[in-house]
Amino acid sequence: MRFTVAIDGPAAAGKGTISRAVADRFGFAHLDTGALYRAVGVKGGDPVLAAQTLTPEDLARDDLRTLEAGQAASQVAVIPEVRAALLAFQRRFARREGGAVLDGRDIGTVICPEAEVKLYVTASPEIRAHRRWLELGGNAAPEPFETILAQVKERDARDMGRADAPLRPANDALQIDTTSLSIDEAVAQAIAAVAARL
Ligand code: C5P
Repeated sequence: MRFTVAIDGPAAAGKGTISRAVADRFGFAHLDTGALYRAVGVKGGDPVLAAQTLTPEDLARDDLRTLEAGQAASQVAVIPEVRAALLAFQRRFARREGGAVLDGRDIGTVICPEAEVKLYVTASPEIRAHRRWLELGGNAAPEPFETILAQVKERDARDMGRADAPLRPANDALQIDTTSLSIDEAVAQAIAAVAARL
């Protein structure tokens, strides 16, 4: 069976948590496509070459989740040749046998417009920055809340404003706004959408 769940949305809206929960619940494979761009961003050198020669070791680095890696990822993600180099792998993953969940920015619009379920997970910039701040240790975080909020807004602007595959909801995406939802409520909405289509 081929069945793709495309989950797009801005940074720290809850895509990762929802994607893992949906994949677990239905036994689908999961691909965090942001990790591909993060790995290219932190690898250094020519980003196009980095994207063309990405290895499993690059994806296993333990510094991919840092704020710096997120910023570096969104800078290399504007380069059309970088996106092109990562396209075929993501498409194959999306249509693999047994079902797949992919989360990112352009899954429902560019990578897999034929996805059976498309979700657009969003939340206010303040809530997303607050979650990121807590994740990074709250008062012990390396950056103050205001810096993290500024970075969230800067990354949103770059991801939504780029010419190639900008972040936007697919026309047929179900929007889930997690600003005032608990994780359990957001996951329940996503699971209900997949179950209804299966
Ligand atoms: O989702 P995550 O925060 O890990 O993504 C890091 C960056 O990678 C995003 O800000 C975005 O610029 C880029 N990205 C993208 N397309 C995707 C996934 C991530 O452009 N499908």
